[in-house]
Amino acid sequence: MDEAARREGQVTDQVLASFEEAPDARVREVMDALVRHAHAFVREVRLTEAEWEAGIDFLTRCGQITDERRQEFILLSDVLGLSMLTIAVNQPPVPSATEATVFGPFFVEDAPEVPLGGDIARGASGQPCWVEGTVRDVEGHPVGGARLDVWEADDDGRYDVQYTDDRSAARGHLFTDEDGRYSFWAITPTPYPIPHDGPVGDLLSATGRGPMRAAHLHFMVTATGFHRLVTHIFVRGDAHQGSDAVFGVKESLVVDFAEQPAGTPPPDGRQVAGPWTRARFDIVLVPD
Ligand code: BEZ
Ligand code: FE
Repeated sequence: MDEAARREGQVTDQVLASFEEAPDARVREVMDALVRHAHAFVREVRLTEAEWEAGIDFLTRCGQITDERRQEFILLSDVLGLSMLTIAVNQPPVPSATEATVFGPFFVEDAPEVPLGGDIARGASGQPCWVEGTVRDVEGHPVGGARLDVWEADDDGRYDVQYTDDRSAARGHLFTDEDGRYSFWAITPTPYPIPHDGPVGDLLSATGRGPMRAAHLHFMVTATGFHRLVTHIFVRGDAHQGSDAVFGVKESLVVDFAEQPAGTPPPDGRQVAGPWTRARFDIVLVPD
């Protein structure tokens, strides 16, 4: 080993030794691995001082643009696949159970309750869509009283939290009936860009990537005795599925949004002016 490599290694060893007395073993384990990998990265790419400064500036800009409505660090984790990797590590697939995907930054606590068959759109623009399904356990028993939180962007690609007024739209929660069934009206999901007017957008441009998310509808399902499920359904046939900006697409979550020509009677007798779609999503929860 030459003298330069020996000195580089010494820096790493000193930092690792500094964690030896950490009172919490997990903190020590995580910090030890973080430093070993970060130092290996600097050595591998022979990081220049200008690049180190650019990295600090990038993280500073992520912090500056973050507020209660915008979380650039989660977005960064999402576009680097860290969010999906953390899900994969923590929620390995359970045969027959519904797969999880990325949470995203647009969930809002306590979105309004809608009755079964109710409409979550509440003024958001888009083509009406009837969504129905069941919630069951891995043995096929219905889960009554499960809470479903559902949220989505309008067909301009915006969530209500991105509107300039405080309007709530295209989100809500509902509960399954005693047979585990649910249904609601929503809008047919369309592809939309993740926020890309900040440092994460610059990163996407610099790496020749686009900001588009494949069209989807978010679900969070909670029921006593089961793991919380955070997932989406994706629209079969959407061309963005192979290039989803946050790597969230899983084949098992791609469902048909069947086109219903204008005049097709909806399942609940509601008057629908033009064409609409319908989708079915049967959910299987993993026990605690
Ligand atoms: C979303 O689907 O809402 C989302 C997920 C990750 C990053 C940005 C948006
Ligand atoms: Fe989304």
